[in-house]
Amino acid sequence: MGLGREEADLLRPDTLGDAVERYLPEVVINAAADTAVDRAEAEFAAAWRANAVAPAALAEACRDRGIRLIHFSTDYVFDGSQRTPYLESDPTAPVNAYGRAKLGGEESVLNADPKHLVFRLSWVYSARGRNFALTMLRLAREGKPIRVVDDQIGSPTNARCIADSIAEIVGHFLALPEEPGGLFHLSAAGQTSWAGFAQSLLNEVFGGVAPTVEPIPTSAYPTPAARPAYSVLSNEKVQRRFGIRLPAWEDQLALWAEDLNGPSLPGHC
Ligand SMILES: NC(=O)c1ccc[n+]([C@@H]2O[C@H](COP(=O)([O-])OP(=O)(O)OC[C@H]3O[C@@H](n4cnc5c(N)ncnc54)[C@H](OP(=O)(O)O)[C@@H]3O)[C@@H](O)[C@H]2O)c1
Repeated sequence: MGLGREEADLLRPDTLGDAVERYLPEVVINAAADTAVDRAEAEFAAAWRANAVAPAALAEACRDRGIRLIHFSTDYVFDGSQRTPYLESDPTAPVNAYGRAKLGGEESVLNADPKHLVFRLSWVYSARGRNFALTMLRLAREGKPIRVVDDQIGSPTNARCIADSIAEIVGHFLALPEEPGGLFHLSAAGQTSWAGFAQSLLNEVFGGVAPTVEPIPTSAYPTPAARPAYSVLSNEKVQRRFGIRLPAWEDQLALWAEDLNGPSLPGHC
């Protein structure tokens, strides 16, 4: 059962308890958020409401009904000064308003109930919807020049692989309802820059006739919100705890290219 804004509006946190009460599911997965990173700089109150106040309300509503909440956070809780993959225990220091609001959300979820789970994701893309990978593809098909920053490093993660991992993790907790939850990093293995990712995805789709991506520095592409220069997440903890395998970003990208031609089978990642 998936609820949209009509039944579960993050900007109306006081109504979220009623939405939980209406269905009383075994698990609630909150995949909704205000993800407009640049807009959050000018509209922090709304970003805070959707990304911190609403998750807090949802976490309390779930706790009061004995329901486990799965919530998503972001690599943007880090300042990017590290040069080795971030652990869950590393200090947070968001460099933008979106990251501050998301950090507020993850803290309130985990404070509400130690059985809740927060998964920090990074650089999420998919074969559907709107995302960086599909934008690059569109630009290439339109014959537009493709200039992409090459001094921000992260781990592009296919939404399908996140969904497959979460399905396994939910199964784990349904079998072991008393187990505590916690904070986990859930991203692809390995790292690249946005420019490296763009070039790889174009190569994957267009092969030898792929257009060339022009790498540019972040200073040549100014945005209202700063981004961390390095936000690679170590996914050791989630793999160890749940016995799941998170493929390298290149393998996840190959799966994305397959999915462009139609949905693949669940559990494929
Ligand atoms: N994308 C990334 O690279 C990335 C990286 C790290 C973490 N994350 C986290 O991963 C999660 C999913 O992100 P995403 O990339 O899938 O985001 P997305 O594509 O922007 O989707 C966000 C979803 O939230 C819904 N939403 C927005 N405002 C809402 C409101 N007021 N009430 C109810 N629903 C609302 C949107 O609904 P509509 O369809 O109606 O607009 C949309 O379905 C978020 O927690 C995000 O912070 C994402």
